[in-house]
Amino acid sequence: MTDLAPAGQGANRAPWSLRRTYAIISHPDAGKTTLTENILAAAGAIRAAGQVRARGENRRTQSDWMKIERERGISVSASVMTYEYAGLTFNLLDTPGHEDFSEDTYRTLTAADSAIMVLDAAKGVEPRTLKLVEVCRLRDIPILTFINKMDREALDTSVLLDDIADKLALDAAPMQWPVGSGNRFKGVMDLTSRDFLKYVRPGEGHNPGAGAPRFAMDGGAKAELTPEEYEELVEGAELAQEVCPTFNPQSYEEGHMTPVYFGSALRQFGVRELLDALARHAPGPQTQVATNNGREDKLEPGDKEVAGFVFKVQANMDPNHRDRVAFVRLCSGEFKRGMKLKTDQGKALTVANPTMFFAQDRELADEAYAGDVIGVPNHGTLRVGDTLSTSGKWRVAGLPNFAPEMLRRARLKDPLKAKHLKKALESLAEEGVTQLFRLQVGGEYVVGAVGQLQIEVMAERVDTEYGIEVTFETASFETARWLDGPSDKIDAFIDRHKTAIAEDIDGAIVFLAKSAWEVSYSEEKHPDIRFLKAKERRA
Ligand code: G4P
Repeated sequence: MTDLAPAGQGANRAPWSLRRTYAIISHPDAGKTTLTENILAAAGAIRAAGQVRARGENRRTQSDWMKIERERGISVSASVMTYEYAGLTFNLLDTPGHEDFSEDTYRTLTAADSAIMVLDAAKGVEPRTLKLVEVCRLRDIPILTFINKMDREALDTSVLLDDIADKLALDAAPMQWPVGSGNRFKGVMDLTSRDFLKYVRPGEGHNPGAGAPRFAMDGGAKAELTPEEYEELVEGAELAQEVCPTFNPQSYEEGHMTPVYFGSALRQFGVRELLDALARHAPGPQTQVATNNGREDKLEPGDKEVAGFVFKVQANMDPNHRDRVAFVRLCSGEFKRGMKLKTDQGKALTVANPTMFFAQDRELADEAYAGDVIGVPNHGTLRVGDTLSTSGKWRVAGLPNFAPEMLRRARLKDPLKAKHLKKALESLAEEGVTQLFRLQVGGEYVVGAVGQLQIEVMAERVDTEYGIEVTFETASFETARWLDGPSDKIDAFIDRHKTAIAEDIDGAIVFLAKSAWEVSYSEEKHPDIRFLKAKERRA
């Protein structure tokens, strides 16, 4: 296996510089799961493709709430998988595929230093891809593109490249050029080496771990292609050179350009090449904007201070232990097992059992570095958005809550279970599954979500994990806004809208509006108050 780790001594070879933390983004059905499996297989992290799903099945039988996942056949849980390849340590963050989980996905992407965008070759850029790229844009995360399903009829290559450029406003730099698609798919030309990479069908001596067989365009490729195919490929490559942008590493790292690769995740073609491209181009851990003692500052991956932030909390991963695992993305320092860290909320924590997640296993992490993701088991101390650091003075910004687009009232079948319900809803809100608002008048709970599926997951979990029968009814409110502005104006507003005022889980005041129209109307009538659509956690 080629060692693609950066050359050099000292700081250049520091463990953190060898971390590559990334996520795969796609519209559902473009092939994210298949690609994940095959990336892990090509990297040697699992023996054969197919195990990710098998592992998923195991997990599902362990955890009741994943019934929904099984019933719907979609993945709703985010996780991380660590593997070694080409002298580097990769942390692959799994982003939930369904639209309703965009908030969760957003938070996961805040923990990634780069992303692979998977497009279906027959469809190009689809709506969900567009949304996810917008999220990547917020932090200018570099994106590498994989055009999947070349073994099926595909759109014209130039059309696909134009689609990326037009819809995503990204310069699309083809790194390869395909010849044919579907039954006529023969392979791709590597535009850098000018080698022809032959598509070998399964059962025709195909060895995905080794990558595609290569032939020089001026030599062996001629024997592998018909004269027409050869000509088509040469013309395509010329066209690419004339009209497409040339790959510029800096532009990619700044998030303006995406290098484009082609293949078939299912047929394991182009996956090894994609892995190599990631190893060659994807950036390591980046500088993290944060505050230190309330002042704006930066965390550098090589800094001494051990600091990281919680981007995901998963409860009840193992129903035998009521455990909660907080996924912490480290931003700086050398973490050692047993370290005492503090949250930015002033809570101290000895991290005795930090976990790293490999494709087949979890292992205790004796040490971890910037770029790594460790799972920290805890009993509710850690919440999404918390920063953990040696001094406790750091706070990583930018993990917002978004205004929910769906509000539901929780109604108990057995009113004596009110206390239990409160605990369950709070706990799920702390995990970030749903948001929770408590009406100031009457004290009723209103649950907020971005979409219906989120509500279903929550209802299922309240039932199976907490044993509470509850129905979620349509509330008379449609959306929520956090309030910001002079306190006298806010107090006056609260006074006038008593029945529509609630507190969120952090005690922040929220205005529950009956419609988008009511929000605009209130904005007009109260120009001194800002009605915020997103709130950064405990700002
Ligand atoms: P997702 O995670 O992005 O939602 O996509 P997933 O990998 O589940 O793939 C969606 C469907 O597309 C699956 O078919 C999968 O087999 C197929 N697929 C993925 N990559 C390729 C490819 O390169 N070529 C072809 N021809 N198909 C591909 P399915 O029938 O919906 O599911 P399954 O029964 O195969 O699991």
